[in-house]
Amino acid sequence: MQTRHTPTGAVTDLSGRIQRDSEGRLQHLITLEGLSRDELNALLDLAQFYVRAVGDLPARDQSLAGHTVANLFFEPSTRTRVSFELAARRLGAEVVNLDMQSSSRVKGETVLDTIYTLQAMHADILVMRDAEPGLPAFVARQVAPHVCILNAGEAHLSHPTQGLLDALTIRQARPDFSQLRVLIAGDIAHSRVARSAWHALTTLGVGELRIAAPEGLMPTEGEFARAVRFSDIDAAIEGVDVIMALRIQRERIMHSQIPDEATYHRTFGITAERLRRAHPDVIVMHPGPMNRDVEIASEVADGPRSMIQRQVTNGVAVRMAVLATIVRNVQARRQF
Ligand code: NCD
Repeated sequence: MQTRHTPTGAVTDLSGRIQRDSEGRLQHLITLEGLSRDELNALLDLAQFYVRAVGDLPARDQSLAGHTVANLFFEPSTRTRVSFELAARRLGAEVVNLDMQSSSRVKGETVLDTIYTLQAMHADILVMRDAEPGLPAFVARQVAPHVCILNAGEAHLSHPTQGLLDALTIRQARPDFSQLRVLIAGDIAHSRVARSAWHALTTLGVGELRIAAPEGLMPTEGEFARAVRFSDIDAAIEGVDVIMALRIQRERIMHSQIPDEATYHRTFGITAERLRRAHPDVIVMHPGPMNRDVEIASEVADGPRSMIQRQVTNGVAVRMAVLATIVRNVQARRQF
């Protein structure tokens, strides 16, 4: 596979071009890189249309009637997989979830052969999560023109629907992005959530973006352009309006220079005491799964400033918006 050893920047740049059809419409969603502010806002507006309060019946329509969505998760997932499934069903699609532990990949079948098999069964929207950088873009180049690839988490690089749901959650609480100070804290180096949030928030014109990571978990200098870097969490948190806490991605870390959990919590965790340094109306977010009392204190995660459940609710609405948009673009292409 050509992209396998391509440096990070080239992989994502390539993905940005590959996700559009010849008319420039989104056919796939592989990265938020290259989406304009208008495109992001259109997706967020549509997602907002699909948001319902918990306790109300969820939004439903038939935008995906006749379509088949296949979920291929080669890495663990709870929120993302379930929310893609619910989003697709609520838009009237048929959904299949491949159990990757018992799929033919473990028997040596290539990912592409699995994809072609699904394509031959009329699955036309393939939602993929994998640890390999560049895989969604590689697959997008091989599938038939009516098939859409949605990236549900690509290595440490990209998690576009998470970036959108994070932007939507912030927009609901603080609509004026130009005034905002946003802090992303934790294992930035290995986080696709941080990278997609950075793409979304910089394009949407956030006032100041800070990243804070302990030694060994800070990304290289070439990445996160214009973000203000902090190694001290107490300094980073000073006056911020939004805090996004991240899990340490132990599964992506080869060396073992990360501190033990208690030390990490003491030196870098988002605690109630540290929160007092932020703006009084600060909101706290976490993509899940959380390691309670490691990167975030339980009393903060469950406290009044926490938006963590709201993020989950928004996740379904965002995935509905992405699915509906992609299918509308396929239909527009067919009418041409
Ligand atoms: C994240 C992921 O898988 O990238 N979770 C998610 O999608 N909600 C973050 C993580 O695993 O820490």
